[in-house]
Amino acid sequence: MITEINGRKIKILIESSEISKKVSELGKTITQDYKDKDLIIIGVLKGSFIFLADLIRCIKLKTEIDFIRVSSYKEATQAGNIELITNTGISLRGRDVLLVEDLLDTGGTLDFVRKTIVSKNPASFKICALIKKKKRRETEININYVGFEIDDKFIVGYGTDLAQQGRNLPDIYVIE
Ligand code: IMP
Ligand code: MG
Repeated sequence: MITEINGRKIKILIESSEISKKVSELGKTITQDYKDKDLIIIGVLKGSFIFLADLIRCIKLKTEIDFIRVSSYKEATQAGNIELITNTGISLRGRDVLLVEDLLDTGGTLDFVRKTIVSKNPASFKICALIKKKKRRETEININYVGFEIDDKFIVGYGTDLAQQGRNLPDIYVIE
């Protein structure tokens, strides 16, 4: 069992069973909200890949999936500048777009990604984030679907990382 990452002790915050329950609720809500729509789901790499994989299997609609890759946290828990590494490959003009992100911290990443996508003129644009930190945000972001609200702690697991480690942990942990 993994109890530390890069020498930092980790403690369980949200168990995988609780995550699955929440993900399936989110999937149901999204399915209802977008019924009769042809949805495009865009994941923000790398952090959202596990959440997205689970979520899309709970969305009972015709969908297309794409990814956008940005880098923000360069080292461990330090924030860096946001950089667009790979843009989406499909045309978003006139489409209903749902952006899927692992977590909302300062809001910088989602603000950057939102602007990148909105500039492609989708018919509608919504955001789904698994985790929202309760702290005061530097950039105000409207999230349409939120899994969990947590205190301002650094988390790892279920796709999120500490210096690129721990993405494969099935549960979500906090760094002690
Ligand atoms: P923001 O730009 O500050 O909102 O940060 C969002 C991005 O930073 C997320 O997409 C995560 O990839 C990363 N991030 C922020 N907080 C954490 C954390 O507690 N653990 C792991 N990654 C984090
Ligand atoms: Mg991320």
